[in-house]
Amino acid sequence: MVVEMQEIGSVISFVCRVETVEHDGHKNKLESELNRAKNEARVFNIPFSHFSGTFFRMFQYQQHNQYFAQIAGGFEELAGLELKELGAKHVKPDYRGFHFVATPEVLYRINYKARMIIRVLAPLVTFDCHSDNYLYQTAMKIDWTQFMSVQQTFAINAVTSNTPGLTHSQYAALKVKDAICDVFRNQCGERPSVDAKDPDIGIHLYVRSNRATISIDTSGGSLHKRGYRTARVDAPMAETLAAAIVRLSQWKGERPLVDPLSGSGTLLCEAAMRYCYMPAGYLRTGWGFKHLPDYDSKVWMKAKNEADGFMRNLPADLLIASDIDPVAARATRRNLNRLPGCKNQFECFPRDFRKIEKLEDVTIVTNPPYGLRLGNREDAEQLLKELGDFLKQRCTGCTAYVYAGDRKLLKKVGLKPEWKVDLNNGGLEGVLGKYELY
Ligand SMILES: C[S@@+](CC[C@H](N)C(=O)[O-])C[C@H]1O[C@@H](n2cnc3c(N)ncnc32)[C@H](O)[C@@H]1O
Repeated sequence: MVVEMQEIGSVISFVCRVETVEHDGHKNKLESELNRAKNEARVFNIPFSHFSGTFFRMFQYQQHNQYFAQIAGGFEELAGLELKELGAKHVKPDYRGFHFVATPEVLYRINYKARMIIRVLAPLVTFDCHSDNYLYQTAMKIDWTQFMSVQQTFAINAVTSNTPGLTHSQYAALKVKDAICDVFRNQCGERPSVDAKDPDIGIHLYVRSNRATISIDTSGGSLHKRGYRTARVDAPMAETLAAAIVRLSQWKGERPLVDPLSGSGTLLCEAAMRYCYMPAGYLRTGWGFKHLPDYDSKVWMKAKNEADGFMRNLPADLLIASDIDPVAARATRRNLNRLPGCKNQFECFPRDFRKIEKLEDVTIVTNPPYGLRLGNREDAEQLLKELGDFLKQRCTGCTAYVYAGDRKLLKKVGLKPEWKVDLNNGGLEGVLGKYELY
């Protein structure tokens, strides 16, 4: 056997060749060659099962400790602030997200605690990419066996733009998939399967203006999936948006928080989590960062235990939810009850807000129907007008935060907002207005 290893820039090539053994004298030499190869493989963190190939010696995130946090449109500023609060360094905005530098501990903490971030990607390689063939060749230089086994499943999410050689995202994704399968076939004789809906590993390809980045999803699926919203109603709000609204309301539990059109209760669930210092990922299982070759379980347990140690219970009756639809009220109850430390610590019942006699000295957060997905526009406008009358006439001493589908709809409230801010709801437009009610 002859083992040749060569480091050229960021890649390492190695070839193990089995040659004819002519006499016993070769046996010792063969064993020492084999041991040398094993040791070198260990140094370079390459499983020795590889017989030949050219792989990247280090991944991009390992060289620079740099990651990318994806953010939904509208609350970039808040999300950037959150990243910094959780320990991210060199936070730099880019299209739909932020590049940042983090230690493994900070990476785990961000995934576990961030409320407004959609996912964190670990870039493996960034390169000039003009053609599908070059994409395939480069993806072949990633030793995918370091991230998953043949028994695990993967999915590729590809976005391509302004790249004449790669105009179809699906086709680009297919090329990366082919490369992953071929790397596995070469080494193991088998390949892992694709599961587009619920993969063990998420792989992201982003190509823009002939420049491509292949990344691993360290979050293990979108972070908005907190795990509490098992009961759903029509037109629920994205959890990341609800978290941003709660944060903008600056509510910290000093007085009750009321959602009189609670739907599935997303706003109150996010408020409860925030009040209880419950990490946003507390109910989640399966983290993408556990598939990174340098994942450190001790560091993860430290980050998790530290975050969990701050948790506290929700005091009784700080949260008040109601909805005209009994099914929605039940959904709110069920979802809030899924949060540890919150079980039945809140009021929740079916009620038409127009029948509420009065509210005094509370904070109101609410999200009336958009008139887009629920009912029609005229009904939505009429309801916003009635909500405005309710706020004006029967909510003295309260502060209200109303999230509506657009600025024209919000105007129907008929009150002058202290401020308005555009915030996307899972790709749909929306606007939040703050009202001080005297
Ligand atoms: C857009 S949904 C709220 C979604 C909620 N934020 C969530 O995340 O699930 C609007 C809710 O307003 C409720 N609603 C409509 N008219 C109402 C009324 N007059 N009184 C109370 N609730 C009402 C609907 O039943 C619906 O659940």
